Amino acid sequence: MDFDVSSDWHVAAPYGFLRTLRHEHPVFHSEHLGAYVLSRYSDVRGAYADPRRFSSKGSLTISRSLTEETRARLGEHGSFLSSFVANVDPPDHTRLRRSVSRAFTPRAVANLERQFRELNERLLDRVEPQGKAEFVAELGHEPSVKLTARFIGVPEEDEAFVQARVKDWFQLFLSPQPPERQLELADSFLTYLAYVDRLVAARRDDPRDDFVTLMTGSELSHREVVELISTILLGGNDTVPNQLGNSVLRLLREGVWPVPGDRLAGAVEECMRIDGASLGSFRYATEDIELHGVTIPRGSLVLLSTDSAAHDETVFPEPERFVIDRPNADAHLVFGYGIHFCVGAALGRLQLRTALEVLGDRLPGLRLVEQPVVYRTSLVGRALAALPVEWA
Ligand code: HEM
Repeated sequence: MDFDVSSDWHVAAPYGFLRTLRHEHPVFHSEHLGAYVLSRYSDVRGAYADPRRFSSKGSLTISRSLTEETRARLGEHGSFLSSFVANVDPPDHTRLRRSVSRAFTPRAVANLERQFRELNERLLDRVEPQGKAEFVAELGHEPSVKLTARFIGVPEEDEAFVQARVKDWFQLFLSPQPPERQLELADSFLTYLAYVDRLVAARRDDPRDDFVTLMTGSELSHREVVELISTILLGGNDTVPNQLGNSVLRLLREGVWPVPGDRLAGAVEECMRIDGASLGSFRYATEDIELHGVTIPRGSLVLLSTDSAAHDETVFPEPERFVIDRPNADAHLVFGYGIHFCVGAALGRLQLRTALEVLGDRLPGLRLVEQPVVYRTSLVGRALAALPVEWA
């Protein structure tokens, strides 16, 4: 048995398989992923906490499936995110992280709550009279996409363009694509990079109160700023809505809707634990690493399976059961751990709580429309392809 990214169970129901790994092969070599997989909570956290031996440098550059022609088309941009904060080690990481953190102060994040609530209310003003919706396309994404765009400083008229490009970009580098499709996606990605480049240049000449402006005044190079903005758009546009979709599905299936206000924070953590939008992070072994009797050779790719860690029965008793007030639910590693811990975690949590609160107030009769649930094919993300819902 091995991982199989192309089959449904990889994202929808990997837990039987992950349990076997934790019990029998805590250091598993996956032919399919071309990586060693760590699946026990303590090993996953331990590896995140040890960036010297488990390096992030180039870990997001999973472009082995790209054809020669696609590589040629991408040119210098074929080295995916070579200076993105999650893709580098100290001392580069320390410098980049310092600049980025300046934008995510608790005050700055708290200030976004009102805007985010308004964006959700406005969307529901439009969609509520329909009585039904496809949650992913019609309800899940828009508020987060708009909030992130404002935070970054993307003009409203460019939001749709940016969203489409970000999706293409993600597909190109993180899920295997047929050669023809690769070329289309590569062109889309290059258009996108050129756009961000122009945005950065514009803010240099005409500063505003936004993230782009803040970064142009920082110690970062032009390329670093471009990559950072691109990836923050991705973080905001994709992972939060994906986590929201997973959470709504879970809460409706468990019959906990609407979630009472005093249970929201706990519900968000337990939803993240049990149906995390991020399945794990890749690292490279910088030396031979001995673990549980297996040697991970120097230079190997290693997957830290946070999805498995979140279902580790030694930390979370009865891991497949949804417990809305599970005392340690927030010990999940879905935002990572250590020096690369998600810089947007507070913003992500704030959005999830607020969206669930507004949706619960406005659509207390929300229910699933019976259909098999389909996930997007992906190596490292859990996201519903669609979620039809209706309300009275
Ligand atoms: C539920 C939503 C989110 C999830 C599940 C998530 C997950 C993660 C994970 C697992 C990491 C660690 C990567 C690693 O160690 O290799 C990470 C890092 C990061 N995230 Fe998030 N994220 C979310 C939301 C956001 C948001 C809203 C933003 C920005 C607006 C963001 C920006 C970042 C950045 C910039 C990093 C890199 C930090 C570093 O390397 O020091 N994320 N995220």
